[in-house]
Amino acid sequence: MSSIRFARAFSSRANAVKFIANATRPKTVSSTIPFRTLAIPSLNRSYSTQQTQQKEQPEQKSSSGSGRVLFLLGAGLIGAGAGYYFYSAANSSEVSPTIAKETLDYQKIYNQIADILEDNDWDDGSNGPIFLRLAWHAAGTYDKESKTGGSNGATMRFAPESDHGANAGLKHARDKLESVKQKNPAISYSDLWSLAGVVAIQEMGGPTIPWIPGRKDADVATACSPDGRLPDASQGPSHVRDIFYRMGFDDREIVALVGAHALGRCHTDRSGYHGPWTFSPTTFTNSFFKELLDRKWVDKKWKGPKQFVDKESGDLMMLPADMALLQDKNFKVWVEKYAKDEELFCKDFAAAFHKLEELGVPRSGNEKVYHFKPTGEN
Ligand code: HEM
Repeated sequence: MSSIRFARAFSSRANAVKFIANATRPKTVSSTIPFRTLAIPSLNRSYSTQQTQQKEQPEQKSSSGSGRVLFLLGAGLIGAGAGYYFYSAANSSEVSPTIAKETLDYQKIYNQIADILEDNDWDDGSNGPIFLRLAWHAAGTYDKESKTGGSNGATMRFAPESDHGANAGLKHARDKLESVKQKNPAISYSDLWSLAGVVAIQEMGGPTIPWIPGRKDADVATACSPDGRLPDASQGPSHVRDIFYRMGFDDREIVALVGAHALGRCHTDRSGYHGPWTFSPTTFTNSFFKELLDRKWVDKKWKGPKQFVDKESGDLMMLPADMALLQDKNFKVWVEKYAKDEELFCKDFAAAFHKLEELGVPRSGNEKVYHFKPTGEN
């Protein structure tokens, strides 16, 4: 039996605070955006215009001359108001007949997701790693040429995408997040899953990830991404590069993103592989790069797929696709930088993960960018 104790995210708040403080915000962040996300109390303007219109109607009864002028003026204003109402309602994709999405309090939803992270019946006591994997697999199907796939749509709710081999085990994450969806029916699944990725990273001590709502769910299974868009763990550098270049990432961003393997573990009943990459699988650190560089990795002797174990303890693992980051000299440059400089890793990871979650999501460029406060700081 292994004598190793795996660190829990929830006992490492000091680390978490350190990383959050260290992480520099990426360029996409506007300095005018408040760090703490607040609920936006006002409803969509089209609703308030409608209320104004109803209140003004009784005043139209005046029969005097000046009254008639006022009446005509008022009628004109009302007509313009009504015109604006119908124009804006028809042109606003955010407006639903019952709820304006802008009223959602995303910090509250963040906190609700944070509340269901700790789970003593699951893996290392946290749903964080699998929430992060759900967010990544929802987004990582993007193809920049055809502009298909990506986190918009939440198409993993449907077969065949839910049954793709790469998505094995993710039903657990989708089912867990259902309780948050029930409390907030107006949030789309695609926003909920991408937000869960942000919550997982931040609550496990990672950097602040800028996040933008507004993803829309697809209604039909025909919107599913084709199988084979996510990386194959048995492959080497050229496959890894092809997959991530297809999404629009460069070598530096690829290495930063795979650094998420500091978290979680492999499961024989999901991917066929076995074991964690680090001794702290619920704390966001740069230790994936440190272990990759510092340990001697040997073939695991077993009947399962080819993978590597560390020679010293035999408790840590690497996938062939992780080893690709050592084999390719352009990837290795970044492995070495991130192993030395955790702050740089956190900064690059935050920017790359934000970019990942934005792939395939239509944006005007005027959206509000949210920065959530980790629950430990409340
Ligand atoms: C070359 C690219 C990648 C490959 C081949 C790969 C492959 C895998 C495999 C085989 C597993 C094990 C699944 C299981 O058995 O439960 C896994 C887990 C995981 N991956 Fe990746 N991955 C890649 C990139 C990423 C990226 C970019 C992220 C996030 C930004 C990520 C986050 C995770 C996390 C958090 C887990 C742990 C899940 C858990 O503990 O349940 N991976 N990955």
